[in-house]
Amino acid sequence: MYHFDRNKYTMDMHKKETLVITCARGVADYLRQEVEQLGYRVRSITDTRIDIAASLHDAMRLNLMLHTGVNVLCLLMQFSCKDPDELYQNVVSFPWEDYIAPSEYLSVVSRVNTFTINNSVFASRKLKDAIVDRISEKRGSRPDSGPDRDNVVINLYWDGDKCWVYLNTSGRKLSDRNYRKIPLAAPLRETLAAALLRATGFDGSQPLVNPMCGSGTLAIEAALIALKRAPGLLRSNFGLKHIMGFDSKAWSALRKEIHAKSKKELPFQIIATDIDKKAVEAAKKNAQTAGVHEMIEFHVCDFNDTPIPEEKGIVIINPEYGLRLGKQHELEATYKSIGDFFKNKCAGFTGYVFTGNMALAKKVGLRTSRRLIFFNARIECRLLEYHMYVGSK
Ligand SMILES: C[S@@+](CC[C@H](N)C(=O)[O-])C[C@H]1O[C@@H](n2cnc3c(N)ncnc32)[C@H](O)[C@@H]1O
Repeated sequence: MYHFDRNKYTMDMHKKETLVITCARGVADYLRQEVEQLGYRVRSITDTRIDIAASLHDAMRLNLMLHTGVNVLCLLMQFSCKDPDELYQNVVSFPWEDYIAPSEYLSVVSRVNTFTINNSVFASRKLKDAIVDRISEKRGSRPDSGPDRDNVVINLYWDGDKCWVYLNTSGRKLSDRNYRKIPLAAPLRETLAAALLRATGFDGSQPLVNPMCGSGTLAIEAALIALKRAPGLLRSNFGLKHIMGFDSKAWSALRKEIHAKSKKELPFQIIATDIDKKAVEAAKKNAQTAGVHEMIEFHVCDFNDTPIPEEKGIVIINPEYGLRLGKQHELEATYKSIGDFFKNKCAGFTGYVFTGNMALAKKVGLRTSRRLIFFNARIECRLLEYHMYVGSK
């Protein structure tokens, strides 16, 4: 049997590749801004992804630094394909043995929109078979495979008669930051929370108040943004670390360099409150895990009693919206009180309500200055902006 020496093969980490960064619907423009601020030129943008020309070394940086991206994918193959047999034949011709060691574990994720098969599980199996058959033929043994996304992850997009195969350099989604240890009902995805904050223009130079904080996602993401802390530093595992030739020295140096750029304190405390004591306890623990608990002042109280700082800033609320939690009638009164709270207690602030229920949103009773569309899972939502002028305007 062929003896395989893992260290013999190295991948070129600095060669320009096509990187595709995915995001939730509604977030692409904020992701584009982030990517451009990191110095990359965006080649194309759709609802849920942007493409750039960059290296696997850049993919390391993007995985560590992006707040709003979900996966960083590196394009490996692109080909025309009519049916599953053609998929197999194309994929088996790729030198997988130079990327994936037989001792690794492999997971395949497929998105399929083609007439020849109606089932993405079958496409994933065909792709996985081609990869492991190739490695087995070249190396004498094959990687294990299954649904666990903690090791090598390969993504397949099959649209009509075209297929794209990607190395998923993130592995698990980047929204999985690793700080939410205590699950509560209806938390926001971390990447969506970060995009909402970008949409408000929050950058840490102004106070941020978050009544109805739930598990604390908005407050924690706000602290990460304000401190310029790279969310990827909160976790140690990424898909690209499982690829042969992964440059662990460059990875450690990059983590250190990025860590050194983060701030240690903020000009203002972030204020987060919730009426539910358990929610505030969970939010505090999550903030502690994220290393930002000292930046957030937590209170257990009705949203209406949330302390409002003198200095003007942003107040953002994600109330229940009746589709998954709470009940429409009870919530009508809550939304009306949010309008009163904004008007009576938050003069000079810009207020935001993030909700998936437009009928309830109307109960706020104030004029919106912007209404931005986002998707929370499959639910179409709005981030509604209200300017609370001081005085009579
Ligand atoms: C949709 S959840 C917020 C989820 C949060 N954005 C997160 O990511 O975890 C709404 C929160 O509002 C809180 N809440 C409901 N009525 C409230 C009230 N009158 N005052 C303060 N908080 C309230 C609930 O306890 C719940 O935690």
